[in-house]
Amino acid sequence: MTSVAYLDHAATTPVRPEARAAMAPFQAEGFGNPSGLHAVARQAKTGLEEARESIAASLGCAPGEVVITGGGTEADNLAVMGGARAARRAGHGDRVVVSAMEHKAVLASAERLGAEGFDVRVVRVGPDGIVDLDDLERALDARTVLVSTMLVNNEVGTIQPLADVAERVRRLAPRAVLHTDAVQAVPWLDVATVAAPADLVSVSAHKFGGPKGVGALVIRAGVEVEPILVGGGQERGLRSGTVDVAGAVGMAAALRVTVERRDEEVSRAASLRDRFAAGLASIPEVIPTGERARAVAGNHHVRFVGVTAEDLLVALDREGVCAAAGSSCASGALEPSHVLAAMGMPRGHAREAVRFSFGYASTNADVDHALSVVPRVVERLRGAAARDPRAAA
Ligand SMILES: Cc1ncc(COP(=O)(O)O)c(C=O)c1O
Repeated sequence: MTSVAYLDHAATTPVRPEARAAMAPFQAEGFGNPSGLHAVARQAKTGLEEARESIAASLGCAPGEVVITGGGTEADNLAVMGGARAARRAGHGDRVVVSAMEHKAVLASAERLGAEGFDVRVVRVGPDGIVDLDDLERALDARTVLVSTMLVNNEVGTIQPLADVAERVRRLAPRAVLHTDAVQAVPWLDVATVAAPADLVSVSAHKFGGPKGVGALVIRAGVEVEPILVGGGQERGLRSGTVDVAGAVGMAAALRVTVERRDEEVSRAASLRDRFAAGLASIPEVIPTGERARAVAGNHHVRFVGVTAEDLLVALDREGVCAAAGSSCASGALEPSHVLAAMGMPRGHAREAVRFSFGYASTNADVDHALSVVPRVVERLRGAAARDPRAAA
């Protein structure tokens, strides 16, 4: 295999050199535990607090509103479970409203709240991949304590109308805390502005050139959240556990670079994605998913009629093209996509849908390589299916 086209930036991104350089000292002599009192601890503490200030500046909030977490999943868990439990404890109500296309980190948190007696409502999504605002209105009431709708969907890439969601939440559920999962949004949107209407905002470093296993939850001043991790009381009691200082520093550096270069990187990714999409359009029966015009610059999601995603991804991988489909679970196996199901896509169609995702590290060579492989592989698999329909069943 001579070259690899990595078209899976929505799954994770390569760590930016700036993040690696920023982290290095904290993986060496700056190894201290930031909770201690001595010089080595203080050095780590300084690094952590500088990182927090930088993250806050990039996300448009105060440093005291940033809680460092062990990634996006943990930030979502803390927001949804912690936000809802704190509000119920304060007597504000017990209804929780989430969209059907949320990441499992949000949906599984809501499910857990359901088991604790919360009244969980799941809001419909349109075939365009956008949350149904009328259905949202129907779900909201004065006893709603928490609403969670993402900013950008991780599968189909659609940008959600958060300002419209917020307007409805403030009007119909004035006591509710609004959470947005901005994990997939950071490379593409000015989260500081777009997520401003939300009370709680989740981000994850590895989606924008930072390390894995570190993220943040923005908790705006005055918003109550109950911790889900308890112990030493780090992060102002909201997230116990020794903070990964190097990770936080790497996240801060990656975020700074992402914000600084966003305009340039978005337009570069969009032109690569568009060239790729135009190349795929030469293949018969390639059907784009959802409303492509509302997807972020890095996302191309399509269905190759007559070819299962599983077969296609395996064949592409053999020829050095990395793409994804559905949500791969921990085993790497493909699970049926709850997002496509929520959009009303029949299961048989959803099995044929593939996500190609571009990012800051994508190049013209990636597009050239992918376009030299994908049409040929699709044609071969379709030919095999035509010769032996059972093979494609
Ligand atoms: C929208 C969204 N939310 C949450 C997560 C979870 O983030 P992490 O991998 O940092 O736990 C992901 C990761 O795929 C995501 O895409």
